[in-house]
Amino acid sequence: MNLLQVEGLRTHFVTRWGTVKAVDGINFNIGYGETLGLVGESGCGKSVTCLSILRLVPQPAGRIVGGQVLLEGEDLLKKNEVEMSSIRGSKISMILQDTMTSLDPVFTIGNQLTETLRLHKGLRGQTLREKAVDMLRMVGIPSPELRLKNYPHELSGGMRQRSVAAISISCEPLLLIADEPTTALDATIQIQFLDLLRELQQRIGLSLLFITHDFGIVARMCKKVAVMYAGKIVERADVRDLFDHPAHPYTEALMKVLPKAQEKVARLPSIAGEPPRLHDLPPGCAFRPRCTYASERCSGTYPPEVMIADGHGVACWKYS
Ligand SMILES: Nc1ncnc2c1ncn2[C@@H]1O[C@H](COP(=O)(O)OP(=O)(O)OP(=O)(O)O)[C@@H](O)[C@H]1O
Ligand SMILES: [Mg+2]
Repeated sequence: MNLLQVEGLRTHFVTRWGTVKAVDGINFNIGYGETLGLVGESGCGKSVTCLSILRLVPQPAGRIVGGQVLLEGEDLLKKNEVEMSSIRGSKISMILQDTMTSLDPVFTIGNQLTETLRLHKGLRGQTLREKAVDMLRMVGIPSPELRLKNYPHELSGGMRQRSVAAISISCEPLLLIADEPTTALDATIQIQFLDLLRELQQRIGLSLLFITHDFGIVARMCKKVAVMYAGKIVERADVRDLFDHPAHPYTEALMKVLPKAQEKVARLPSIAGEPPRLHDLPPGCAFRPRCTYASERCSGTYPPEVMIADGHGVACWKYS
C-alpha cells in the first residue's frame, strides 16, 4: 500500500479576476520511505498542492473542491479540524518555503521544539529537554544546549533551516513535505542540508514530498519526479528516465534551458512564451500556446495521461 495517495485533487481560489484553478485534478502516490519530487515553474500549483494535503489552503479565497488525499487509506479531506491538527506535526510534517515564517519569532528554538514534542509525544521535564537537545544535535547544530535558548533571529539562515528540520521531524512523521527547503541557503549549506535530510530519511524511514525548481536537487534527492504545469501533472517518471527521455514538450523545453549543474538559480529558468494565466486558461492543453508541436486537437479535450514506459506517464496528444 502507498503511504499517500492523492486522487483527482482540485483546489481553486476565487479572485476578482475569476476562479484560479491552482490545482486542477492531480493524482500521485508516495510509497513508504520514498521521495517524490514535484517540479514546475513559479505559480504552477506546487505550494497549493502541499497546503491542500495539510488542509491549510488560505481561507476564504481558497477551497479544495474535489478529490481525495488518502494517508494510509484514510481520506484527510474528510477529517474534521481537530483530527487534522493532530495529524499535522505528527503523521505529516512540513518545511515551508520560507523558514522565517515557519518559526515563531517571539519564542526560542527550545520553546518551539519542546512544544511540538510535548504536544505530540507527551514528553515532560528532563526527558523532554534531553530529547530536544538530541534533535538539535541530530541535525548538526553545534552546542545544542545553548542554542535552545536562542530566538530565530539569533541564528544563521542555515541554522534556522536545521532548526525547522529538527522541529519537523521531532515527532517522527510518516511524511515530510519540503517546499523549496533550501532556496534561502547558500550552495554549501544547501548540500549539507540535503544530505542531512537524506540521512534522516534513512534513519527514521521517512517519506518525502520534495518541491523544488532545481533539477540538480531532484537528481540528488528523488527517485521519482512529477512535472506540473498550470495546476496539472503533465509528466511523471523515474528521475533518470525523465532526464534521458523527457516526453512532454514542456519538460523537453525545460531540459533545454536548464542551468549547468553547479549554477544556483532562484527559480526555474523560463522557456519561450507567456506563462499561463490560471484564471483564464484556454480550453484543451494549457501548454498549447507555447508548444512547438501544437496542433488542432490540442485546443479540444485535455489530453489523457498515457504510459509510454514503465512508470513514465505523459499527458500530451503527441502520445495518444
Ligand atoms: N491566497 C491566494 N489567493 C489567490 N490565488 C492564489 C493564492 N495562493 C496561491 N494562489 C494562486 O495559485 C497558483 C498556484 O500557486 P502556488 O503558490 O502553488 O505556486 P508554486 O508552484 O508554489 O510557485 P512558486 O514556485 O513561485 O512557489 C498561482 O497562480 C497563485 O497565484
Ligand atoms: Mg511555492
